[in-house]
Amino acid sequence: MVDLLLGLQWGDEGKGKIVDVLTKDYDIIARFQGGPNAGHTLEFDGIKHVLHTIPSGIFHKNAINIVGNGVVIDPVIFRKELDNLKKFNIDIVSKLLISRKAHLILPTHRLLDAASEAAKGKAKIGSTLKGIGPTYMDKTGRNGMRVGDLEFSDWKQKYRALADKHEAMIGFYNVDVQYDLAELETEFFEAIESLRKLTFIDSEQYLFNAQAEGKKILAEGAQGSLLDIDFGTYPYVTSSNTTAAGACTGLGVPPNKIERVFGIFKAYATRVGSGPFPTELFDQDGETMGRVGNEFGATTGRPRRCGWLDLVALKYAVQINGVTDLMMMKADVLSGFDKIKVCTAYHYKGESIDHLPYNIESNHVTPIYTELKGWSADLTKLNHATDLPKALNDYIAFLEKELQVPIKIVSVGPDRLQTIHR
Ligand code: IMP
Repeated sequence: MVDLLLGLQWGDEGKGKIVDVLTKDYDIIARFQGGPNAGHTLEFDGIKHVLHTIPSGIFHKNAINIVGNGVVIDPVIFRKELDNLKKFNIDIVSKLLISRKAHLILPTHRLLDAASEAAKGKAKIGSTLKGIGPTYMDKTGRNGMRVGDLEFSDWKQKYRALADKHEAMIGFYNVDVQYDLAELETEFFEAIESLRKLTFIDSEQYLFNAQAEGKKILAEGAQGSLLDIDFGTYPYVTSSNTTAAGACTGLGVPPNKIERVFGIFKAYATRVGSGPFPTELFDQDGETMGRVGNEFGATTGRPRRCGWLDLVALKYAVQINGVTDLMMMKADVLSGFDKIKVCTAYHYKGESIDHLPYNIESNHVTPIYTELKGWSADLTKLNHATDLPKALNDYIAFLEKELQVPIKIVSVGPDRLQTIHR
């Protein structure tokens, strides 16, 4: 049995925290797409920990964590992640398994990302510059290097041919990208040696066997549905399928084996990087959300853009993913607002629409809001659904009615324990 957990907005919804909360109910946690552009933050026992490539079940003794074939791995960042885990004494060799079919991010992929962004000028995507786009381009262009290649003696030749090609491509962009490839390669080759000490598997076969044995698997998404390469706000998206279908291709799990789809969303909305964001606020309310919600990217430290919840976009994400259970994050951040606004439709080409059109740039759509009463109570110490203030319950009921999916978890703070089940 496979359940799936993914973000319904532009990433940073709090997926890491919820995976960590849910892991006790699963045998295997498996990442299926993205790479170190992700930053999954977990807090427990007074410790705050950020994971980039490693699945968020890693802190649970009994869970097996799999980096699936759909993920792209930067060995240098991976090594740093492993170093940061050392103090937890986790048996990494048996608890963390890596798909042979996962693609490798080379140092020159990162340089290509920087060159491509610099060449775009004002139209830049706002990429995390982790080499994600160029690595997926090599994957779909059938030129990539995979983890499994490291088990063959000619992997360095493969590496050289690809890196040389990348260097020529960097020249083509004709922008100023400074680098010392020899230095980057020393670091990369050392990191490859660390990676080779880990356990490589044919993850689709492993997961097939696990299902036959009745094991429970949770597929962990990264980024968010509106950053999906097909269904997101293209071209301001990431380069993988962040939506439910990505779990099938990124793990080799058949669609008919997926049972529950957990959709995670914030009680408001944020976006980091460029691209359209109809409900973005440029006023005091947006500033308050950013400050109280500590809205800074876990990977890049960039301030996140903030705005009211966009139900048009959320409904779209719920539909595309077939969400069965919703989880609302950061409800505590909205405490203190007199009024809570929710975008329930867009003005588009002279009419009011409630579906996501092809282009949601601000010169095409204007959000139409419904106003609800706010609440002032501090939620961060609450433990039970019955303790939630009436205005928050009304907000939840409104969203459930609009989305036609129950909100099963309300998160009221970053710690594992600040999680209310309904
Ligand atoms: P890339 O995937 O690093 O190329 O970035 C493409 C876009 O996706 C940029 O706008 C990034 O800010 C955004 N992005 C990528 N990963 C994440 C994430 O984990 N959380 C939020 N935004 C992300």
